[in-house]
Amino acid sequence: MAAVSFQSVSKTFSTPRGPFQALDGVSLDIQEGEFFGLLGPNGAGKTTLISILAGLARATSGSVSVLGHDVQSQFADARRQLGVVPQELVFDPFFNVRETLRLQSGYFGVRDNDAWIDELLDALGLADKASANMRQLSGGMKRRVLVAQALVHKPPIIVLDEPTAGVDVELRQTLWQFVARLNKQGHTVLLTTHYLEEAEALCTRLAMLKRGRVVALARTSELLGAASANVLRFKTDDALPPALAQVARVTGRVAQLPAQDAQEIEQYLAALRAAGVRVEDVEIRKADLEDVFLNVMAEAQEDAQREQRA
Ligand SMILES: Nc1ncnc2c1ncn2[C@@H]1O[C@H](COP(=O)(O)OP(=O)(O)OP(=O)(O)O)[C@@H](O)[C@H]1O
Ligand SMILES: [Mg+2]
Repeated sequence: MAAVSFQSVSKTFSTPRGPFQALDGVSLDIQEGEFFGLLGPNGAGKTTLISILAGLARATSGSVSVLGHDVQSQFADARRQLGVVPQELVFDPFFNVRETLRLQSGYFGVRDNDAWIDELLDALGLADKASANMRQLSGGMKRRVLVAQALVHKPPIIVLDEPTAGVDVELRQTLWQFVARLNKQGHTVLLTTHYLEEAEALCTRLAMLKRGRVVALARTSELLGAASANVLRFKTDDALPPALAQVARVTGRVAQLPAQDAQEIEQYLAALRAAGVRVEDVEIRKADLEDVFLNVMAEAQEDAQREQRA
């Protein structure tokens, strides 16, 4: 049985400017025990999909089930299987950290949960904040409490919507160690993140969304394998010749060019020399998930434009 199954899920919001389709026929299954990544640019529909999964929004059409329970007709059974860390920081300012976690336990009917709550507080570096009021916590600490809150009933499926946004490096590492441990113990993980190196390191399979559609769905290793093997990276203050500018990824002074082999790298360097472009700090690296992501998104853009013209 799939841990999570999305079947032709579409969602149209009504807005003052007319209907807006945020999801367009999303179908994908996440198997039990998977560490699954859902990637996509801002506004792609990731949070909308998670909201439908968590029963916070209704699909306009299609269906979603969690371990066989339909999220609409069997809401309580489906919801109990999920621990959701929402993207938005929402909490009740009147409670302290421990009270917040006890309340959440009560919501799921879990009694005498203090041993597990202590373990969560410890693992998330919140032990010394247990009696601090939610209002007194920094943004990153509030996010940690949200993570603890999602895990309080030991759900088999953990859904993390950008859990590391605004979180410092140290906690990110602790958080990933903790989540990886839960995954090893058999928990299924669904993660969205804009930190692609995190997704590359953690997720065994990935879906990429763009404008509400799945534009890639494969094992992480396959996606990386299909990418151009190498990237030529250098710094320059000069403008690139047009042929190179078209394929380059430029961030400030840093330009990166995808290359299949050594010959292509030589051609790039020759073209740069011929155009009189001065380069510094030249290096060749292996293509990573960010390269794959940008490729997939660019291709999806071209497909959409072709569709529009047809
Ligand atoms: N309640 C709503 N009413 C109208 N439009 C909405 C609503 N919620 C989301 N949208 C729109 O749906 C689209 C998808 O939003 P969503 O929050 O799912 O994106 P996302 O992939 O999570 O993006 P991000 O990476 O920024 O979190 C966006 O264009 C957004 O403006
Ligand atoms: Mg989102």
